[in-house]
Amino acid sequence: MSGADLASVLAGARIMPVLTVAHPAAAGPLADALTAGGARCAEVTFRTADAELVLKEMAAHGGLAVGAGTVLTPQQAERAVRAGARFVVSPGFDAEVVRRCRELNVAVVPGVATATELMRALKAGLDTVKLFPAEPLGGTSTLKALAAPFPQVRFVPTGGIGPAQLPGYLTHPAVLAVGGSWMATTDHLERGRYDEVRRLTAEAVERSTT
Ligand code: 3PG
Repeated sequence: MSGADLASVLAGARIMPVLTVAHPAAAGPLADALTAGGARCAEVTFRTADAELVLKEMAAHGGLAVGAGTVLTPQQAERAVRAGARFVVSPGFDAEVVRRCRELNVAVVPGVATATELMRALKAGLDTVKLFPAEPLGGTSTLKALAAPFPQVRFVPTGGIGPAQLPGYLTHPAVLAVGGSWMATTDHLERGRYDEVRRLTAEAVERSTT
């Protein structure tokens, strides 16, 4: 999808579950639990050997706009798109990854932690960035300070965020959506706690709409 399409998906979704999934067998039940909880998009990180397969199965589920996360190289961006990723997320800004995503016609959301990185993203023609790692960087006060000189930029804060911090981020007008792994942790997945994934997702979605 285009960057504009992704911005509108994120603005509608408000919550981006970040998933690190070791076993492809988890993809179906996980997609079911996330959609039952009201999630509309998800980021599958390229941190496990079977990430592409997981992405493919989650994308085929149909209920979620699924993207790839932790994409560090142009080659990973290519593999992500081949597996069905509709967008690509990086923890930092890499001009080659951004260029390859452009060529592949897939939306890309680079991570930024400083004004300099944000200016690089702007120079590359992007106006949606991931603020990463949001909480260790200083949370909403850092977000406010960084957003002020860049009124055209929209943020997806991610990193160290849990339900308690959600409202603080979501009430900032520059925040499109908030990302995080707390809704579906490795522990939930290892223990098959899809009921808990659904509950935590529903709680986050509820908090994002009130
Ligand atoms: C990411 O890749 O975006 C982060 O690892 C997610 O951050 P969290 O695990 O602190 O929510």
